[in-house]
Amino acid sequence: MEDFSFQNKTAIRFGKHHIDEELHDAVAQFAQKVLLTYGGGSIKKSGLYDRVQKALADLQVFELSGIAPNPKIDSIRDGQKLAKAHDIDVILSVGGGSVLDASKVIASAKFYDGDAWDLVADRGAQSRSDIDQLPVVDILTLSATGSEMNAGSVISNSDLNIKLGTYGPNTPAVSFLDPQLTYSVSKWQTAAGSFDVFSHLAEQYFDRATANDVTSGIIEGMMRSVIKWAPVALAEPDNYDARANLMWGATMALNGIARSGNKNGWTVHPIEHELSAYYDITHGVGLAILTPRWMKRVLSGETQARFARYGREVWHLTGKDDLDVAQRAIQATYDWIKSLDIPMTLPGVAINSEEKFVEMAQEAVRIGNLNQNGGYVNLTVDDVTALYHD
Ligand code: NZQ
Ligand code: ZN
Repeated sequence: MEDFSFQNKTAIRFGKHHIDEELHDAVAQFAQKVLLTYGGGSIKKSGLYDRVQKALADLQVFELSGIAPNPKIDSIRDGQKLAKAHDIDVILSVGGGSVLDASKVIASAKFYDGDAWDLVADRGAQSRSDIDQLPVVDILTLSATGSEMNAGSVISNSDLNIKLGTYGPNTPAVSFLDPQLTYSVSKWQTAAGSFDVFSHLAEQYFDRATANDVTSGIIEGMMRSVIKWAPVALAEPDNYDARANLMWGATMALNGIARSGNKNGWTVHPIEHELSAYYDITHGVGLAILTPRWMKRVLSGETQARFARYGREVWHLTGKDDLDVAQRAIQATYDWIKSLDIPMTLPGVAINSEEKFVEMAQEAVRIGNLNQNGGYVNLTVDDVTALYHD
């Protein structure tokens, strides 16, 4: 097990009744001027927008709408202007991970006088911790990213075809997690979000640290849960237990607990971020297409014991031959993803041209440091290019 520090200050308000009872005070504790951020309109359709406006009626609420999936730097620039012009005190993010990711960077950009892209491009790998950050309160409407309890954001610059992670000094101050708000999430986004959760767990499970049984066991339990509940949520969108387990599972998968004691080199995320950067595809779907391919590619004499443990603990497979159990575990992963109606090929998400694959692979390897012990198993540009082609 590796050395680690752990602290997470986000206050979680999970369940059916917190929003109406506590939203006002959670926001008003930070003073009067609120920037309400949201996406393309799902919160108006669901009636959540009206509920929020009613709860905050005595505060001064400014708005930034239209934050897109794979949030773009342009929205952050707009938010930076609004936050400065109105001297905003607190941001209330209402939506999925994209709205929240953008809100966290806007919260820093209020205290930065240059172009907001600097906060992503120059600091991607490091943090923005030397810059102040407005408090962020959120109402989450989609289970996937874990952004509701971590300090990360992933921001795209469409002009440059770049999608990068950036880290602020704080996790959200208060996160309202009401599973009922996710009943309206489409099947596509439900499958994608569920796989994003699974991928966060896999990235942390297949790690170079050894003998980290506490974290491994926690992750195995959370993997079993998402495998069990994702199909239920697809079949019965308003099944509370399914939505609740997916929501809390998403939060727990990426709030720091599942990384403790690991080396934490991620592989499939940097490879996927290139797909989203170049083709603006849904993050979780890109991960779902790539993950079984990656598993097959890195399975070897050295890794088979880990994959076999994954097969036995997560998929309940039996048998003494590690390689055989490992191969069946990878097949089970593939079959589960396919059963969620996720297309398993890049043409299935309208990526038909292969001419950019080498360029994308170069970027993934550079950003993820994939050929220099950045991930679980070293990958070269050729490996990553082949993975896109598989
Ligand atoms: O924009 P609106 O109208 O709200 O519609 C959204 C959007 O079109 C819709 N939606 C959200 N809640 C809904 C709903 N539709 C109906 N009912 C609801 N209750 O769903 C669409 C997708 O929303 P988005 O926020 O993009 O999804 P998600 O939460 O999966 O976020 C994905 C983004 O997070 C990044 C990804 O790269 C991607 O950009 N990630 C952030 C991480 C983090 N901060 O730690 C880690 C992740 O690995 C990930 O990279
Ligand atoms: Zn992810």
